[in-house]
Amino acid sequence: MRRTVIAGNWKMHMTCAEAQAYTEAFRPLVADLPRDRQVLVAPPFTAIATVAAALQGTGVCIAAQNVHWEDKGAYTGMISAPMLLEHGVTHAIVGHSEPRKYYSETDEQINLRARSAQEHGLIPILCVGESLDQREARETERVIHRQVEQGLEGIDPLRLIVAYEPIWAIGTGKTCASIEANRICGLIRGWVGNPDVVVQYGGSVNEASIDELMAQSDIDGVLVGGASLNPKGFARIANYQVPVAAAA
Ligand code: 13P
Repeated sequence: MRRTVIAGNWKMHMTCAEAQAYTEAFRPLVADLPRDRQVLVAPPFTAIATVAAALQGTGVCIAAQNVHWEDKGAYTGMISAPMLLEHGVTHAIVGHSEPRKYYSETDEQINLRARSAQEHGLIPILCVGESLDQREARETERVIHRQVEQGLEGIDPLRLIVAYEPIWAIGTGKTCASIEANRICGLIRGWVGNPDVVVQYGGSVNEASIDELMAQSDIDGVLVGGASLNPKGFARIANYQVPVAAAA
C-alpha cells in the first residue's frame, strides 16, 4: 500500500532563529499524527541542522530543497548528498519549477540529481508540472510525460516521490481542481510504470483544500509551499481528515 507523504517546502524562508521558534510551536501539534502518514519539512540548507535537532524523536523527516549530482568538487554554491546525510536528511527535492526557471535546470541535470540522491540513500522528490501557456496550448500531458521520462531514467520507482506541481498554481492561490490534479497524478503513476509509486500534488495547498485533495484516489500526499510556513496551518494540513465516505 502506498504511504501518504505530507511535505512542507519552506523555500528561501526562515533563519535558524525563526526555524527554532517554528519547531517549538510545531512539535506538540504533530505529536499524535495518525500512523498512515509521513511528514517532511524542507528548510533552507542553513537551517537544516537546527530543524533536524529540534524535531528529533517526532518522526518528522527532513528534506533538502535540492542536491548536486557530484559528491564534492569545484561547484561553488552547491550542496552534495553526503553533506546532507551528515545532518540526517532523508529526502531531496529535485526539478522544482523555481530552479528550472531561475537557474535553467534541465531534465538531464535533474535526472543526475535524482540518481545521486538514490545512490546515497536519499529519496528524491521529483517535481513536474506545466506552465499556464502549456496548459492552454493543450500540451500538459506531453510536457509532464517528458519530464517524468527524462527525469526518472535509471531511477528505482519504489524509492521515489513524484510531485505534480502545475506552475500556474504555485504561489498564486489557484489550486488545481482536485479532480484534475487526481487525473494528472494517475497519468504520472502510469508513466512511471509502477502502481506503488508515491505521487503528490503541490500548488497553493492550504488548510481549506487539503481534505478534499487527500480524498482523491491517486493523490498520495502534498508538497506545500506558503502554507507550510505557519506551524499551526501546516500541522492542520499534516492532520488532514478524509471524509468517511471517501476513505471507504
Ligand atoms: P505554494 O504552496 O506556495 O503554492 O508552493 C508550492 C510549491 O512550490 C511547493 O514546492
